[in-house]
Amino acid sequence: MKRKIVETEDGSKTIHIEDWNETYHSIHGAVQEAFHVFINNGLKFYKHHKKQIKILEIGLGTGLNSFITLLESERNQLNITYFGVEKYPIAAEEFEAVNYFEDVFKFYPELETRREEFWGYYQKMFASNWEEIIEITPNFTLKKNEKDFFDLTAHDGDQFDLVYFDAFGSQVQPELWEENLLNIVTDLTNSSSIITTYAAKGSFKRGLKANHFTVKKFPGPPGKREMMVGFKNFDHE
Ligand SMILES: C[S@@+](CC[C@H](N)C(=O)[O-])C[C@H]1O[C@@H](n2cnc3c(N)ncnc32)[C@H](O)[C@@H]1O
Repeated sequence: MKRKIVETEDGSKTIHIEDWNETYHSIHGAVQEAFHVFINNGLKFYKHHKKQIKILEIGLGTGLNSFITLLESERNQLNITYFGVEKYPIAAEEFEAVNYFEDVFKFYPELETRREEFWGYYQKMFASNWEEIIEITPNFTLKKNEKDFFDLTAHDGDQFDLVYFDAFGSQVQPELWEENLLNIVTDLTNSSSIITTYAAKGSFKRGLKANHFTVKKFPGPPGKREMMVGFKNFDHE
């Protein structure tokens, strides 16, 4: 399918799939959405709970969420193992064209003196081989898994504490928002865990509940009224 790079309202870029008229991130702000959904309504809940966190990302895409998470691991001294699943890896030209480094790094002024080092990490994450466990920093280990979400099995990793569910919208891939995939994904989660997503879809909410998650809605990122987070045996207050 034909993809092109477009600019979103916060100045950061995203990829647009012409045939589906679907973007990898919110057109109201790609970076803004990533911070809001996956950090401030996801990783944030772990900052005071646990220092070693295993994250599963459903849809690694451009690597934006994973790079922000690496920066957060440095800021908060968290030790993160990150497992990103992706069936259709982006091309090097697309990675260069979206280039999130400046858009994101400006939110970490305390790391400014280490800019070159982090630029290297940003590049290294994209260049890392698929299916290999790579230590990007002492605090952040990455495994990129090139496969269909539906082919995930218990062998794919340890039990995850946190899931970033970042699939394309249900208007283009409705099958990803039904209980089948959630059964697979929740089977990979820890007995105490969180699943966060930008959507507030009813079938997804029911699937989370059927898999013993308590669902809470939060205000969405700009342009979206609500988003959803599932908590399993997790005290988030
Ligand atoms: C919304 S985008 C993810 C954006 C990404 N999190 C980022 O930070 O750039 C959804 C991703 O899911 C991938 N995808 C779609 N269907 C898939 C499938 N069945 N299995 C694995 N990956 C899939 C797409 O290629 C795309 O990269």
